[in-house]
Amino acid sequence: MKIIMINPTSLSAWKITGENYLRLSKLKIKDLFDADANRFDRFSIRLGDILFDYSKNLIDENSLKSLLDLAKQSGLDNRIEDMFGGSEINFTEKRAVLHTALRNKSKNPVFVDGKDIMPAIIAVQEKMKSFSQNIRNGNWKGFTGDTITDVVNIGIGGSDLGPAMVCSALKHFSSQNINIHFVSNVDGTDLAETIKGLNPNQTLFIIASKTFTTLETLTNAISAKDWFLSNTDADQKDLKHHFVALSTNKSACAEFGIPEENMFEFWDWVGGRYSLWSAIGLSIAIYVGYDNYNRLLEGAYAVDMHFKDTPFERNIPVLMGLLGIWYYNFMGLRTHAIIPYDQYLARFPEFLQQLDMESNGKYIDSSGNQVQYSTGAVVWGTAGTNAQHSFFQLIHQGTQKIPVDFIVPCTSHNNISDHHSKLIANCLAQSEALMTGKGKELVLWELKKAGLSEKEIADILPHKVFNGNIPSNTFLIRKISPANLGALIAIYEHKVFVEGVIWNINSFDQWGVELGKQLAGKILRELSDDNPILTHDSSTNGLIKYFKNCKNA
Ligand code: F6P
Repeated sequence: MKIIMINPTSLSAWKITGENYLRLSKLKIKDLFDADANRFDRFSIRLGDILFDYSKNLIDENSLKSLLDLAKQSGLDNRIEDMFGGSEINFTEKRAVLHTALRNKSKNPVFVDGKDIMPAIIAVQEKMKSFSQNIRNGNWKGFTGDTITDVVNIGIGGSDLGPAMVCSALKHFSSQNINIHFVSNVDGTDLAETIKGLNPNQTLFIIASKTFTTLETLTNAISAKDWFLSNTDADQKDLKHHFVALSTNKSACAEFGIPEENMFEFWDWVGGRYSLWSAIGLSIAIYVGYDNYNRLLEGAYAVDMHFKDTPFERNIPVLMGLLGIWYYNFMGLRTHAIIPYDQYLARFPEFLQQLDMESNGKYIDSSGNQVQYSTGAVVWGTAGTNAQHSFFQLIHQGTQKIPVDFIVPCTSHNNISDHHSKLIANCLAQSEALMTGKGKELVLWELKKAGLSEKEIADILPHKVFNGNIPSNTFLIRKISPANLGALIAIYEHKVFVEGVIWNINSFDQWGVELGKQLAGKILRELSDDNPILTHDSSTNGLIKYFKNCKNA
């Protein structure tokens, strides 16, 4: 396929957006509210159960228009079509990008190399459905005839973060009979602490790895197998009752000892960080039931249709992507905080880190040239209100401006006294405080009212002033349901795509993680060699030698 190579900085809309920023930078977000009583209505969008409010940004109709022009001039409409249509938009790996096909709830076919992929997707989904039901209703037995009580997903990156985040987000919908666990780190502590106390006769291991070559996952999988065999009377033939695999690599699964009937297939056009919609979602289906898993897919599908068919000016992922460009390329901001005011969504920022940073952490454009503008931002965050009592001080009064996305449900699954009102009040108060700040006059008035002397006022006053003018977006979601969660995830997936298109980079590869893997292999060999010839820099050589002495001391 032919990739349209457009350097965004050469576009007229880029120049006009820059001029708009210069003009707006003399104003404050608060001034824009003062000048427009309908600002909230004009800069918020409702999509099903989700309200997206982006009015607390330093944007107006003109800057928005130039950003929308930027999207148009970047060929975003064609690129969206290319993605949904199965073109090889992952051009460095020569692959289509079709996580959207996994949640395609229309009856329409989706073609890859002239072949409709929907029948194969549906067949795997049917297999996931019956398997998850059998685990949940106890029809699937361990080798001793006992039912499964604990499911351990072994995977890393997209083969861990997506299902782990969704399982914790949807805990309210989970089965009381099944405990779910996730092991990702090659640090033996992760596996050891997880399996401690589990009954191997009632444990199912899901080995989740797209490639089935990932060091961490295979190391953990082998150790899990050893633990199972050495803590039961089972032998190799019994493994099939306790081990299943989710992968694109049939032969490696077979080599590990997992028979084909225990393998749930997916395909190379599913990127790791987009794989929770594929067989990688099996742990979710077991934990919350297949119907709820299917609702998650339906929620994402609704957003896919919104993204594909809605004009850019009312299109939530497009607007979010454009706001990203506005923050990182025009306002010069480098990080983006994601603060879910919902304990169930505590792992959402961590999931978004891989989605966003592995996708858009690229410095080479589609022509192979180094970009001359910023790309992917640092995404970070934690659940509110905890965040308020740790790092919000820096967002309010630090020396760098950090845009914040607030995500909050209107109703809680746990209505304990007035907790939820207090949660909402804090969320809304933070976005208001970030925008309005607290001026010198108000602080002065308060200090005088409190009866402080002039000297005391002069000393304390500057410390109590907040400049405000910090941009934020707020998602108000009716409640955290499977469908609404699916929609939220898809919104962020497409936001990341929009940014990648405008930056003219490939958001779907991850070559940057390879070098460390190669070097780790070399160092691993050196660690087990009694007299290795070390050819690293003096720091790495010194650390290797120190480690060996320290370990043997
Ligand atoms: O190293 C990065 C990465 O390739 C991610 O993109 C991926 O999600 C993760 O490793 C795990 O890969 P796999 O599912 O093949 O084990």
